[in-house]
Amino acid sequence: MSFKTDIFPLIASRAVKRVQLAAVEAGFVHNNLVLLADKDHLDALDALLAPGEATFLRQAAAHDVSSFSFPRAEGVLFVRILKSEKDPYIALEDARLAGNELLGELRRYKIETLGIQNLCAENRVLAFAEGLALGSYQFLKYFTKASEKALQEIRISADSASPADITEANALLEAVFLTRDLVNEPHSHFNSIQLGDAVALAAKEYGFEAEIMGKEKIEALKMGGLLAVNRASQIPPRFCVLEWNPKGAKNSKPVVLVGKGVVYDTGGLSIKPSEAMDYMKCDMAGAATVIGALAVAAKTNLPVHIIGLIPVTDNKIGENALAPGDIITMGSGKTVEVVNTDAEGRIILADALHYAKKYEPSLAFDIATLTGSAVRALGTQAICYMGTAPKGVKNNLEESGFATYERLVELPLWKEFGDELKSNIADFKNLGSSNAGMITAGKFLENFVDYPWLHLDIAGPAFLRNANGYRTKDGTGVGVRLLYNFLKKQYLQ
Ligand code: BES
Ligand code: ZN
Ligand code: ZN
Repeated sequence: MSFKTDIFPLIASRAVKRVQLAAVEAGFVHNNLVLLADKDHLDALDALLAPGEATFLRQAAAHDVSSFSFPRAEGVLFVRILKSEKDPYIALEDARLAGNELLGELRRYKIETLGIQNLCAENRVLAFAEGLALGSYQFLKYFTKASEKALQEIRISADSASPADITEANALLEAVFLTRDLVNEPHSHFNSIQLGDAVALAAKEYGFEAEIMGKEKIEALKMGGLLAVNRASQIPPRFCVLEWNPKGAKNSKPVVLVGKGVVYDTGGLSIKPSEAMDYMKCDMAGAATVIGALAVAAKTNLPVHIIGLIPVTDNKIGENALAPGDIITMGSGKTVEVVNTDAEGRIILADALHYAKKYEPSLAFDIATLTGSAVRALGTQAICYMGTAPKGVKNNLEESGFATYERLVELPLWKEFGDELKSNIADFKNLGSSNAGMITAGKFLENFVDYPWLHLDIAGPAFLRNANGYRTKDGTGVGVRLLYNFLKKQYLQ
């Protein structure tokens, strides 16, 4: 078996030019979209349409038709009428979805630049542009043929969104695209070493600090969990420490973000069946989210001190593999009976969460594609979360979940669930019963924290077999928009 470790895939994928938003003075480009808040505002269109067109549009709108295209000599004029919706978060999401739905037509007309004119659509123009941009994402790196023309620029008139809002939206889009790129990289081109390199490169590109620890340092730190999962691998583990510590940070003690960085999860000796393994390159999605969160924080100069911690390894089989029944000693000194080697995420996260204690975090998150039971419980629409952080923090997080439509559902960390992790030979087992596996995973992690903590199990929404709205197929970048929105809400408002 040989692995290339020298090539660095991130550079090539980042060279792909992805869509950006641009602030422009009011004034039309060739292809334009006019966005209306609802069908009560059709008068605003009269200046743009021929009388016959205006009559036709009124008649159709009366029958709830909400999308129109008028191809003209100079370009296409698109009209979209948004739904009336009382819930502000659903209204924003409807706008994102409407943006995404425009893509088919833009592709048909091979449109690369679109102007958006906001006619009484309030704050929904940015959401519309966001959905359009997120939906336009493609991962084309491994095609040998050059790609077709695609949307490159969305020009938004200055009366619709401030230049500062547009700069911020671009930073966020770029971070989501980076996270998706990292998740979409196949393991053949993205092993543990390369994930460490990607962190170092992102740090340089975005302006945060990073330390990439190799096996010797990990051994010196006695991270017995990370080393045990890595035991059968040809590729050494990494432990990455990312830091964004701006002048004037609003928090005196950092927020810590821990991301599961399993670059490929075969299950180990408790091997996965093929249909559960073929997409397991996604098992570093938590790590990719942490990288994206640090990237957007640095890019927007967010005044919040953030530490990212990423334990990185694959979970392979081999002569020396960790075996079910083995007992390992964790970084914290606690012993764990490894009942199932496929429950590896909690083992490496526990070492990272223990390491986080030295920062005395004001709040720590771990973000992980941790359990199949999270997927079975809530599907791909929600993040299962649980933790010891105060109620106010949880409320803010849930609200950010609705605002970004990366929604979360809390599950209980009742003591009784922890009883399932009692071992008769070590401090804990790494596996509970076949029920409520996402909670017993959370209970396992709870043993390694002594600070306000939230565990986000993103196994459902992180990676989609089929596109869903503007959430493109495969890596979705879930968590980046959520965490950015939350950090602003929690520390800046
Ligand atoms: N990486 C998986 C969880 C996962 C499932 C991620 C689906 C993404 C999509 C994790 O390491 C795992 O294998 N969990 C097992 C644990 C089980 C053996 C207790 C699971 O949940 O099936
Ligand atoms: Zn696993
Ligand atoms: Zn895993």
